[in-house]
Amino acid sequence: MADTLPLDSAANARHGSSIGQPLTRRDGVLKVTGQARYAADNHPPGLLHAVLAVSRIARGRVAFLDLAAAKAHPGVVEVMTPANRPLLAQDPDEKQGPFSFRLDLLQNDHVRYAGQPIAVVIAETLEAATEGATLLAPRYEAESTRLGLDAGEAFVPPAIGAGSPPEVRHGDIEAGLAGAAHRIEATYETPAQYHNAMEPHAIVASWDGNRLLVDTPSQGLAWARARLAGLFGIAPEDVHVRSPFLGGGFGSKGLISGPQILGAVAARMVGRPVKLVLRREQMYGPVGHRAPTQQVLRLGAAPDGGLTALAHHVRTVTSSFDDFYEAACDVSHTLYASPAIVTTADAVRVDTGTPIFMRAPGEASGSIALESAIDEMALACGMDPLEFRLRNYAEVEPISGKPFSSKALRECYRQGAERFGWAGRPLAPRQMRDENGLLVGWGLGTATFPAIMFQGQARAVLRRDGSGLAELGAQDMGQGAWTALAQIAADSLGLPLARLEFRAGDSNLPDAGIAGGSGHTATAGTALHSAGADAIGKLAALAMADERSPLFGAGNAGVIAREGMLLRRDDESRGESFAAILGRAGLEEVEGRGHGAADAAAQEHYAMHAHGAVFAEVKVDPELGQIRATRLVGAFAAGRIINPRLVRSQYYGGMIWGVSFALHEKAVLDRRSGRVMNADLAEYHVPVNADVPSLEAILVEEIDPHVNPLGVKGVGEIGITGSAGAVANAVWHATGIRPRRFPIGPEALI
Ligand code: MOS
Repeated sequence: MADTLPLDSAANARHGSSIGQPLTRRDGVLKVTGQARYAADNHPPGLLHAVLAVSRIARGRVAFLDLAAAKAHPGVVEVMTPANRPLLAQDPDEKQGPFSFRLDLLQNDHVRYAGQPIAVVIAETLEAATEGATLLAPRYEAESTRLGLDAGEAFVPPAIGAGSPPEVRHGDIEAGLAGAAHRIEATYETPAQYHNAMEPHAIVASWDGNRLLVDTPSQGLAWARARLAGLFGIAPEDVHVRSPFLGGGFGSKGLISGPQILGAVAARMVGRPVKLVLRREQMYGPVGHRAPTQQVLRLGAAPDGGLTALAHHVRTVTSSFDDFYEAACDVSHTLYASPAIVTTADAVRVDTGTPIFMRAPGEASGSIALESAIDEMALACGMDPLEFRLRNYAEVEPISGKPFSSKALRECYRQGAERFGWAGRPLAPRQMRDENGLLVGWGLGTATFPAIMFQGQARAVLRRDGSGLAELGAQDMGQGAWTALAQIAADSLGLPLARLEFRAGDSNLPDAGIAGGSGHTATAGTALHSAGADAIGKLAALAMADERSPLFGAGNAGVIAREGMLLRRDDESRGESFAAILGRAGLEEVEGRGHGAADAAAQEHYAMHAHGAVFAEVKVDPELGQIRATRLVGAFAAGRIINPRLVRSQYYGGMIWGVSFALHEKAVLDRRSGRVMNADLAEYHVPVNADVPSLEAILVEEIDPHVNPLGVKGVGEIGITGSAGAVANAVWHATGIRPRRFPIGPEALI
């Protein structure tokens, strides 16, 4: 893996700035030495263990549970079922705002998917609880299972994602197709995928009267706290959620899940602390998944390769009882210029758990189809895939007509192509072989993901001893968020990182929004940035009003904060330390408060997206059809880069997921039982080291003056979006066979 010099880190270092430094993760040593305490590592005194019993059928009702047998097992303390579960203040089937899902909290004996919790066994030991759950030996009254894109009840999605309606029409699509010199129509299929974070969902819950303390992994602490408070009918202040470390989330820990809540209900029921940890196979049901899609792309192009029409239809599934919808056609709203663009969507209701967002929701599934279709059209036009994409480059956002707040995609194409060695790629497939006779193919995919922001708050303090504090309820899923956020906080307070105390991961701290939608650094970072500015502003006001300060009367020229000093902007040789200002004022500290959110006016005027270009090489065994991705080069532009090491790591992770999407990952559901047949990490394939190609991520400079004061877009999800299509297109180039069903297996090639 290449480690080219990070963007302007040398310049930043000269100015003592933390932003731009390729720092390692703050919590890295704790993690690799086993000192990081994850939720399930907590063992409060008196702890009991809870184990879920889950449904083996996908639809019907639980007719019988052998409670006597389970309760008779030594060590079993209680069995919680719909018959005795403590009352909740809210109906779990009632939605609480747009970002909430209906939950399965043992509200009745109905079964609506395989893997749904039907009872919780609570025991003195994990072994006893596990055995107790087995002894329940449920009997069911089963109804037929509705599964697959061709079954189930029709469902028209409501407004989705960032608010896109299920149908978007721009220009005259039929005229665009009719008048085209080249037309393609193709159907692509993507499978159900499951998040498979290394750390399963887990909770340790303790009650103290009406106050609840939980240790649980969460991508959104304040939302989790609000949901728990609502369900238990207590004040949010009486719920304390601690989430210092997460072993991955990928969206499945964005909202607190049913099983996590059941752990807290169980603790309430028995009056003792309870730990509940999902087994790996229990992750395939009640905690969300990426819905399968079937996507029909119809494209028209003029003789010169200019698109005349782009129609993207997606059919997907949702559960029988909720309405999450995979917005896979959003990608066609932004990526290529076309006088006519139509996207339509529908779905069927099936008997699975509710699908939810999974890393690069919408774009991951949508872009592998769109990028494949674009590749097919480039071929139809006899054009190089890169030349074709440049021919159809969107100078403004195609449907809205808005200018982009920044868009360095052209530069991504250029730098990526150069680094990869794209020039000289033969247009026709099956032209390249390696020294062992394997077919070699090269493919390209464009990456895109919207620059989203949520709402976040932060608090920053400057102390008389020259140190600072920044705190907010931010989450770190493992991506290094706390490191990047601490870098932002240190700069905003004008302090070296070593003098900053940084606190996060606790719901008692200011609500930092959700670590999702690739918007956490932008949101929480902006909150920290403004909190720091607020604190510095207060300090500057003290100094500028004080005749004894060298900053007295700095007035409109203003001051800058650097390395614990305030300096006159018009004469940096004049200044004084924070400590001196606070000391003279007789204050121990000054406090700043900050808020981070999207700027509505800027959003009104600009389209905001990160972009990238991914170039992939695959090798295919012509006899066995075995496919290996051997080399990926991604060039990404995502605004300002806070920490190039961590950002590169996010891109690598995304690119590996792209390889996974194209070649490995797929949940296999049994249509009769509705069960996931490969519900473990042995059979649900994700790339292992041997599957990971040589990776290179290029950080393309992009200055965005509009997206937020920091100029930060997001980097967590975009890496999947170009990479999956690039690998699929490389498989075509190696073999001449166009993959339209993912993941691509040997059966497609021989
Ligand atoms: Mo991400 S799927 O928004 O955690």
